[in-house]
Amino acid sequence: MLIKNLFTRDIFRSIIGVVKAHQLDDFAVWQELDEFVITKELDQHFRKFFSSYTEAIKNPNDPAMAGNIGVWISGLFGCGKSHFLKVLSHLLRNRQHAYKGQSRHAVEFFEDKIKDAMLFGDIKRSVSSQPDVILFNIDSKADNQPGRDAILNVFLKVFNEMLGYSGDHPHIAHMERYLDGKGKLTQFHKTYSRITGTDWLQQRDVYEFNRDEVVQALSETLGQSRESAEKWIDNAESNFSLTVENLCKWVKDYLDTKGANHRLLFLVDEVGQFIGTDSGLMLKLQTITEDLGTVCRGRAWVVVTSQEDIDAVLGEMKKKKAHDFSKIQGRFKTRLSLSSANVDEVIQSRLLCKADDVKGELEALYVQKGDILKHQLSFTNVGMTLKPYKDADDFVKNYPFAPYQFQLIQKVFEAIRKAGATGLHLSRGERSILDAFQSAAQTVALDQVGVLVPLYEFYPSIESFLDTAVKRTIDQAGTNTSLEPFDIHLLQVLFLIRYVEEIKGNVDNLVTLCIDRIDCDRLALRRRIEASLLRLEKETLISLSGDIYFFLSNEERDINQEIKNVILNSGEESRLLGEILYEDVLRGLRKHRYSANGMDLPTTASAMVTPTATGWTGGCWSQWSPHCTTTTNSSRRAASAFWTAAWRTGRC
Ligand SMILES: Nc1ncnc2c1ncn2[C@@H]1O[C@H](COP(=O)(O)OP(=O)(O)OP(=O)(O)O)[C@@H](O)[C@H]1O
Ligand SMILES: [Mg+2]
Repeated sequence: MLIKNLFTRDIFRSIIGVVKAHQLDDFAVWQELDEFVITKELDQHFRKFFSSYTEAIKNPNDPAMAGNIGVWISGLFGCGKSHFLKVLSHLLRNRQHAYKGQSRHAVEFFEDKIKDAMLFGDIKRSVSSQPDVILFNIDSKADNQPGRDAILNVFLKVFNEMLGYSGDHPHIAHMERYLDGKGKLTQFHKTYSRITGTDWLQQRDVYEFNRDEVVQALSETLGQSRESAEKWIDNAESNFSLTVENLCKWVKDYLDTKGANHRLLFLVDEVGQFIGTDSGLMLKLQTITEDLGTVCRGRAWVVVTSQEDIDAVLGEMKKKKAHDFSKIQGRFKTRLSLSSANVDEVIQSRLLCKADDVKGELEALYVQKGDILKHQLSFTNVGMTLKPYKDADDFVKNYPFAPYQFQLIQKVFEAIRKAGATGLHLSRGERSILDAFQSAAQTVALDQVGVLVPLYEFYPSIESFLDTAVKRTIDQAGTNTSLEPFDIHLLQVLFLIRYVEEIKGNVDNLVTLCIDRIDCDRLALRRRIEASLLRLEKETLISLSGDIYFFLSNEERDINQEIKNVILNSGEESRLLGEILYEDVLRGLRKHRYSANGMDLPTTASAMVTPTATGWTGGCWSQWSPHCTTTTNSSRRAASAFWTAAWRTGRC
C-alpha cells in the first residue's frame, strides 16, 4: 500500500501553516473549523474558558465576576494559540459559513468534536447571547508610534472599527460616536453625501481635504451655526484625549445600549511578543483589563495570547520591572497553557489519522517488526529520552514518522530560532511544525509502506525561513562536484541538530536519524555515512570534535579554513606542540616517575609529539596536522581535538 493511501484526509491538501487573525476568507475559516482538533489539553481549556464565561453570565451582579474577564493563552511557538483563539472567535460569533456548496454554523462543527454534552450545552448557551467579538493581531493593528499608549490606541481603534467608526482618526470616530449618541449619524452620512456626492465612509480618512463640506454637513445635521461646527472640526484632534477611563466608559456606554446580558470580547493575538519587555506597555494592558472589568462589571472580556509562558517572559526581564509584570498575572484570572504535546496530538489527528482497515494492517506490521524498530531507532549520548514506539497503537498513530521526531523537530525549531539562524522571527514565516510534518510526509507519499521518514526530509520546510547566509552554505554544497547527493542530506541533518544540545552528532545517532526504511541495513548505512563524513570534512563543511561531528556555521568555517591555510614547517609545529603539551598540559613537569622501578624519566617536548595506534612516540608531528588526509580516523580525530584545544587556548 502506498503511504498516501494510509491517511483519511489527502496529505497533499493545502493547509494554512500559520493561523492569522485577519485571514477570514471562506476557505480559511472553513478549514479552521472543520479540521480543528480538540486535543486533551484543548478540551480542558474549553471547559475552563466556558465555565468562567457562563458563570459570569449567570451572575451578572456579582462584583467578583469583574475580576474574571482576563484570559491569558500561552505556549511555545506553533503550538496552536492563534488557532484556538480564532476558533473561540468563530464559536462565539456563531456565523453561518459556506464553502464548496456546503454551509454550517460554527457551533455545528463541534457537535461531533465535543463528546461531553454538558460542555457542548455551555458552549451553546454562551453563543446564544450573540456577544460582540473583536479578534485582532495587535502587531498588525498598531501604528508605528512608540510609547506606552500603543496598546490603548489599538483597543480604541478596533472598538471604533467594530462600531463602524473611523479606525485611523480617533477624534473623527469621537464625532461619529457623538452623532450616533444623538441618533443623528445616518442623517450626517446622508447630508454629507448630498453635499459632496461621495460616501462619508470612503472620504473620512482624508476629511481634511473636504473640511468645508464636513463643517457644512455637521452644522446642518446638528442644527448648529457654521462657526461652532468649524471650531469643533478644527480643534477636534487637539481636544481629543484618550485615557483608559474614557475607553472603558465608551465600552460601557455601548454595552448599556445592548442590554444587561450583552458581552463584548477583545481577542488579542500575539500580545506577549508585542509587549516584549516593555513594562510601560505591560502596565497599560493590566490597567485596561482591570478597568474594563470593573467599569463594565464583567461584560467586557480580554483574551490574549503570548508566545512564551508568562513566567518565561518575566524571566527575561530585569528584577526591577518584574514586579510590574507579576501584577498582570492576577488580572488574567484564567490562564491556559498549550504544551508541545498538543502539537503532537494535532499532527497525529489532523495529518496522520488513519482509516480502520489501515490501522489493522499497520498493527500487523508492528507485531512483525516491532523488535527491529526498537533497534533501528536507538540513540547514544542523548540529553533527553528520545521516545521509541511504545506499542502497536503508538506505531499506528505516528507512522511513517518515529515518535522521537515530534520531540526533535520541536527542539530544532526552538533551537534554530534561539540561535538566530533565522533572519526573522520564526513565527513570521509561513511555516509551522505541522507544516514541516506535512511536507516531510509528502516526500514519502508515493512509497510503499515500510519506509520511514529520515530527518533530512524536514529540511526543505525549515529552509524557507533560514538566513540566506546559512542557506547558502548548504545550497553551495549542493553544487559542489566533490560531494554526492547523500552528503547534502547528511549535511542537512547535521545542520538541523547543530543547535540542539540534547542530541550529539556521533555516527550512531546520524545513522538513526537517516534511517529511511524499517528494514534498513544499519551497517551499510553506517559505512555510507562514514564515507560522506570524510568528504564533508574535507570540504570544511563540518568538523569533528571527539567523536561528534558538527555543522560548521559560516564563521566557524572561516576559522577552520584559516587554520587549514596556515602553513607551518614541521619544526614550528613540533615546537608549538611541545610548548602546549609541556607548558599547558603538563604545567612544567620535568620528569615522570615510572612506577614499576621508581626511576625518574626526564620529559622533553620533542619526546611526545606523535600519536600512534598504540601510544605516544617521538617523530613526525605532521601526521597530526589537519592538512594530512592519509591518516587514520582516530589520529585525524586526535588532531582535530588538538587543534581545537590549541585554538581555544589562543596558542595558534
Ligand atoms: N487544535 C488544532 N487543530 C488543528 N490544527 C491546529 C490546532 N492547533 C494548531 N493547529 C495548526 O498548527 C499550526 C500552527 O498553529 P498556530 O498558528 O495557531 O500556532 P501559534 O501557537 O499561534 O504559533 P505562533 O507562536 O507562531 O503564533 C496551524 O497550521 C494550525 O492550524
Ligand atoms: Mg500565532
